[in-house]
Amino acid sequence: MFQAHLTVDRDFPIAPLDRRLFGIFVEHMGRCVYTGIFEPGHPTADEQGFRGDVAALTRELGATVVRYPGGNFMSGYNWEDGVGPRADRPVRLDLAWYSTETNQVGTNEFIPWARSVGMEPMLGVNLGTRGPDEARHYLEYVNHPGGTTLSEQRRAHGTDEPHDVKLWCLGNEMDGPWQICRKTAAEYGRIALETGKLMKMVDPTIALAACGSSAHDMPTYGAWEDTVLEHCFDVVDYVSLHTYFTKYRLPTLAPVGTVPATMSTEEYFAQIETTGKFIDEVVAVADAVAARRHSSKRIMLSFDEWNVWYRARHGEHLKPVGWPQAPRLLEEVYNTEDALLVGGVLTTLMNHADRVKVACLAQLVNVIGPIMTEPGGRAWRQTIFHPFAQAAKWGLGTVLRPLVRSPGFQDPRHGELPHLVASVVDDADSGTTTVFVLNRSLDEEMDLTVSLRGLGPDRVVLEATQLHHADLQATNTADEPDKVAPTALAGITLDGETLRVTLKRASWNVITTRSASRAHPHASTQARTTG
Ligand code: AHR
Repeated sequence: MFQAHLTVDRDFPIAPLDRRLFGIFVEHMGRCVYTGIFEPGHPTADEQGFRGDVAALTRELGATVVRYPGGNFMSGYNWEDGVGPRADRPVRLDLAWYSTETNQVGTNEFIPWARSVGMEPMLGVNLGTRGPDEARHYLEYVNHPGGTTLSEQRRAHGTDEPHDVKLWCLGNEMDGPWQICRKTAAEYGRIALETGKLMKMVDPTIALAACGSSAHDMPTYGAWEDTVLEHCFDVVDYVSLHTYFTKYRLPTLAPVGTVPATMSTEEYFAQIETTGKFIDEVVAVADAVAARRHSSKRIMLSFDEWNVWYRARHGEHLKPVGWPQAPRLLEEVYNTEDALLVGGVLTTLMNHADRVKVACLAQLVNVIGPIMTEPGGRAWRQTIFHPFAQAAKWGLGTVLRPLVRSPGFQDPRHGELPHLVASVVDDADSGTTTVFVLNRSLDEEMDLTVSLRGLGPDRVVLEATQLHHADLQATNTADEPDKVAPTALAGITLDGETLRVTLKRASWNVITTRSASRAHPHASTQARTTG
């Protein structure tokens, strides 16, 4: 057992947390849409064909925003294919995923579904095969109230009121050699500027995200953001970041067939720090562009694709044969270790709440998803579902600056890293303060003391859970859906503003306290316990 200390002070906030930090991603690929969220004929399907079991799990996940319809799919997508009577919709080859797209789900089905499960849509426009003209037409179709051909077309398609979509992505990963109609930074920056200009003429209330690099290790990383923002700084609100965590030592652009070496679990967990560094660097580049223009405008960050993805990342996982419909792509099965990493990354996103205003776990179902389904059958929560759902539930209010004192380990890239990883969010409205803590020591329990300065002595524990499994490789399956799930965390003492607890080795812990004098709407919620 080792001792660790976490100190926060209500007088030292980082920033109010934007709830859009708990977004998710739905792409037309693999089984994310078809046999994921949508499966007419499934025993739980609604009249539109959306699966009720997946909708219920999505609500439980608590995601606030959903990015749609891609991803790489976006760069070859014609939005017109997905609207109007379903029987008339074209069937297309999707060049991004070597699949056949039936277009049975499109804008007017997806947006009401997303809103019905509590998510705000974040749409993307195709800046691969298409450009500014289609983007402004799509926006007019989606958001213009009526009186023009496109808005009346939407109304004739059964959607009388405008969808009022506020968040828009200007293309996807335009630096990636895999992208349909990849562009140089200058080419993309120009098109992003002109597209954004037109879109804001159509609807000045929207916010736009420009594509940053596809990954932290892209050869053009840094220079890409600089050039792109140099062009489109005035018209965009966000720049995007994408990261897929890997246990393989394999660069994003490694030649096909490279045999990867596997890293240690500690090194795997050190990607939490890499994420923080990535955010700091993109902020630095964006602010350097602002400085050159003598501008006080601050470009915010949209971390709109992130997750663990390394097992299902080669061969048939990426490139099916024979142009199938809804093939099994990227069906990564997550284990305990992945859930711990996801928890740690969530603390990093929260601790950068001053600049990261949108983030999307990629994706929602089956395709690197927190939810898995069987076609025609069951749906269940993967391990990573849990830290995300907990952060989405309790990530309310203002993030406080965490001061961490903890023994740690040596990482080849980052040097000495503490075993204790934490974020603290304080919600003055409800009186709750939640402490999110990862003990990433693989061997020892943590004797943790948390000083909650300025939060008042009359606190009680509202909910406390731990996510731990003796086997870091344990997974959830349809037959054992709750093998890795949060259980009640006992033994917490609160003495004035000081909280003490012992945390298991390799565990993710969420402790919510509230002021005893305040009621809270979640007060009746209990930790789900499993055997
Ligand atoms: O999420 C899977 C794919 O990863 C997305 O389509 C793409 O944007 C990224 O490379």
